Amino acid sequence: MHSSQRRQAIIVLDFGSQYSRLITRRIRECHVYSELVPANTTLAQLQQNEQLDIKGFVLSGGPSSVYDENAPACDPAILHSGLPVLGICYGMHILAHQLGGHVAPASGRREYGPATIEVLTKTKQDTQISRIFEGITASPAQTDPLGQTETLSTLRLPGWMSHGDSVDQLPPGFHVLARTESNPVAAIGSPEGLIGLQFHPEVTHTPHGKDMLRNCLFLICNCKANWTLSKVIEEADEQIRERVGNERVICGLSGGVDSAVAALLVHKAIGDRLTCVFVDTGLLRTGECEQVVDTFSNHMQIPLIVVNARKRFVTKLADVIDPEQKRKLIGEEFIRVFEDEAKRLEENVGPIKFLAQGTLYPDVIESTSHDTAETAKRIKTHHNVGGLPEDIAFTLVEPLRMLFKDEVREIGLALDLPEEWVWRHPFPGPGLAIRIIGAVDEHRLETLRAADKILIEEIREAGIYRELGQAFAVLTPLQSVGVMGDDRTYANVIAIRVVTSGDFMTADWARLEPDLLGRISNRLVNEIPEINRVVYDITSKPPATIEWE
Ligand code: XMP
Repeated sequence: MHSSQRRQAIIVLDFGSQYSRLITRRIRECHVYSELVPANTTLAQLQQNEQLDIKGFVLSGGPSSVYDENAPACDPAILHSGLPVLGICYGMHILAHQLGGHVAPASGRREYGPATIEVLTKTKQDTQISRIFEGITASPAQTDPLGQTETLSTLRLPGWMSHGDSVDQLPPGFHVLARTESNPVAAIGSPEGLIGLQFHPEVTHTPHGKDMLRNCLFLICNCKANWTLSKVIEEADEQIRERVGNERVICGLSGGVDSAVAALLVHKAIGDRLTCVFVDTGLLRTGECEQVVDTFSNHMQIPLIVVNARKRFVTKLADVIDPEQKRKLIGEEFIRVFEDEAKRLEENVGPIKFLAQGTLYPDVIESTSHDTAETAKRIKTHHNVGGLPEDIAFTLVEPLRMLFKDEVREIGLALDLPEEWVWRHPFPGPGLAIRIIGAVDEHRLETLRAADKILIEEIREAGIYRELGQAFAVLTPLQSVGVMGDDRTYANVIAIRVVTSGDFMTADWARLEPDLLGRISNRLVNEIPEINRVVYDITSKPPATIEWE
């Protein structure tokens, strides 16, 4: 493939830093495609991907010391590839350690937090590498804290440090580009385009960090800023056409934004050879099924099959109390229903070879995970019931595999997905079944649906839906005594769970206005006879999870 047809990319090698994925994000924000790969990925493996025109590498930070037993190393072929390499923190130690310099082990002291990075002006006339600081100007206070004119030429920048070890001997050919008060080697570089930064340019605590990354991308790696939304849509379109050819595709809609956008992209590429299937499990919220029909069938004109499988699911769940058992049963039943429907459809339209799924980039990274996955304890068997098993007889089409959630949302908007859909809170695959503590039946589902509707109406009315991560009600089996009018009541306790969250790995309970909580509580108790007490969940995640089951 000619390099002009390939996608320019910066490869980030993940040495385990909590910021690794953030580096990829920052690069993409500069409209350059970036991919995160495990630290031990070799140059030869990367070159097998003919789609990528690799313009440079970033070695992320990480918790290790280069002296640790089993410390992750970088394929030497990457360091000698002739392409620019930016090593951040541990990545810089790798450069020094593997290229003949020396890293001083931490002597018990770590440098953690803000530091002032002093860029050494004499390196300015050096080579290409010192362009990492090009065009960055500090405020006068940063440049000349003591008002002494002779220091004016020295660029002082705030930077974020988090390290134990530090480089104390440069590899041959390297120069020091910057220092801090306590660390004489805060940035290094070699004329071959290898750069090491002891601080983290990817975090917002390094205010000029993005400028440095931009310099690295455009002045050192010679990237073009062409990873734009319209380009992403265009490329997805081409790739889907190429992959699918004249075959048919089926896509399971979950009601969430990911499967919706995947379906829109596939439909854009192959038109009505896509059929969407929406399984009404009976575990959905009020109006959900109607909304899917309205958006997909009526508004987007995409062929849609709605399967009413409510009875099947509720029957399966009768008397099941254990949350994991619920998830397992729902997941299995979903696959059965989907397979049945696919078969039925094939009888009508002929063979269906492909299944479209809304797998996102973080899902891909996590499932091939090189960090926590192996050691992580199973808290919940997550994952969308829409996530069908691999042995299902379809080839996958996953047009969102390279995208983050917010990129998917932007594409959704660009493809006319209604805003309300684009900004929906996540809803778990097993649906309301894991928000009814204990056994699930039609009556309890109705009660919870009514409560959920009131809660969401009030939150939308207050204008705060978008800023919240998730808001939902949980029906508990606990009963309490109340008084309404002159009568004693003995009814259920309902819990309200509202959280703010970025990635749903952690979450905090939302500090809702007391008046809003009051309105929600009043409406729940007044409008739903099965409920006579409302409690608000004030636990963050961790230690709690977002869902109760
Ligand atoms: P937890 O409860 O683990 O949830 O803090 C984190 C996020 O995942 C959603 N969630 C699920 N999603 N199938 C799903 O598709 C599940 O079984 C499941 N359990 C939890 C939850 O709503 C939150 O967004």
